[in-house]
Amino acid sequence: MFEKLKPVGMDPILGLMAAYRADPRDNKIDLGVGVYQDDSGRTPVMASVKRAEAKLMELETTKSYQGIAGDPDYNLRMMALLFGADHSILESGRIKTIQAPGGSGALRVGAEVIQRARPGTKLWVGLPTWPNHIPLLGGAGLEIAEYPYYDLDTHSINEEAMLKTLAQVPAGDMVLLHGCCHNPTGADLTHDHWDKIADLALERGFIPFIDTAYQGLGDGLDEDAYGVRMMAERLPELVIASSCSKNFGLYRERTGSITFIAETTEQVEIVASQAMSVARQLYSMPPAHGALLVSLILGDEQLRADWETELAEVRTRIQSMRALLTDNIQNNSAGIDFSHVKQQKGMFSFLGLNTAQLDRLREEFGIYIVSSSRVNLAGINSNNIDYLCDSILAVLK
Ligand code: LMR
Repeated sequence: MFEKLKPVGMDPILGLMAAYRADPRDNKIDLGVGVYQDDSGRTPVMASVKRAEAKLMELETTKSYQGIAGDPDYNLRMMALLFGADHSILESGRIKTIQAPGGSGALRVGAEVIQRARPGTKLWVGLPTWPNHIPLLGGAGLEIAEYPYYDLDTHSINEEAMLKTLAQVPAGDMVLLHGCCHNPTGADLTHDHWDKIADLALERGFIPFIDTAYQGLGDGLDEDAYGVRMMAERLPELVIASSCSKNFGLYRERTGSITFIAETTEQVEIVASQAMSVARQLYSMPPAHGALLVSLILGDEQLRADWETELAEVRTRIQSMRALLTDNIQNNSAGIDFSHVKQQKGMFSFLGLNTAQLDRLREEFGIYIVSSSRVNLAGINSNNIDYLCDSILAVLK
């Protein structure tokens, strides 16, 4: 049976995470996988999540199966978080949100439904993107096409080339967009970009598929949802995958959701039934724990306020680490300008170091960065910043 199978290499991000864990050095630094670390280098359970867990212990009376769509209360609360409680789409009857196993599970369910609706649909992916987007979405049968997104030389969005390509996308194709905190570049679409892409979607007839995995880590919960909310107002169809891994710190609980907006109530009901059939075939139903916690937090005024305060601390800490890193490595002998790191949003930015420099950082200094030179700024703290900057400056010499 298995004799013809060839081994598959480790995923570049998760493989690096495993290599970091196996490194015995005390001064090692993990700037690889996109997981938040506090100033002591730990990834704690958020205090609001801990309190919700205590509450859940008391409230939970059964571990019996949930429905295929997960927890209905969670689904409603996720919609309100994504769109804002007063968004007109919520009352339109054209929207359905279904709980999914993390952002990845949500993306795959979305892709499977698109594949059922129109087999072999072309999905345009901005480059560079999260490396797993392509196998995860392409694996459902979608044909992957590429549009230029980020210019490595100018460290900014290649607006002209991006819009020029999107202006050629035919009706019925899908276009993948990052809702906020672009992974891996940290370069987010401006409001003007979002508006122009919405204009093109209407003009051409393509449908955006928005991946929102970092709501609240960029500028704020509402600010980070500009594109999603505007497009939900203007476009007839939309697919949105969202994740609670980063903003609730629920990584291993696999908590996400997939939202479909269709032209009519009848259509969205059909889409939701297809999504549930996909889920049943893939995993039957999503894991309950994380979604129940999110539901408790969002449904309780005090817990929600505390969670928002914690999230603001996460956001502010990452922004201050961006500034600290930039300021400390700006005057380097290689003359490299790192000012983009300070300006960008979310967990990631490209440092622009080459393979030899990244290898040296890992082997000689115990500093783990993925091969694209994407760094997770949340891995920096007041204890490791000097060592990190000295090490980067050393490999730049
Ligand atoms: C990342 O990009 O590091 C995270 O989204 C974790 C992952 O699954 O790759």
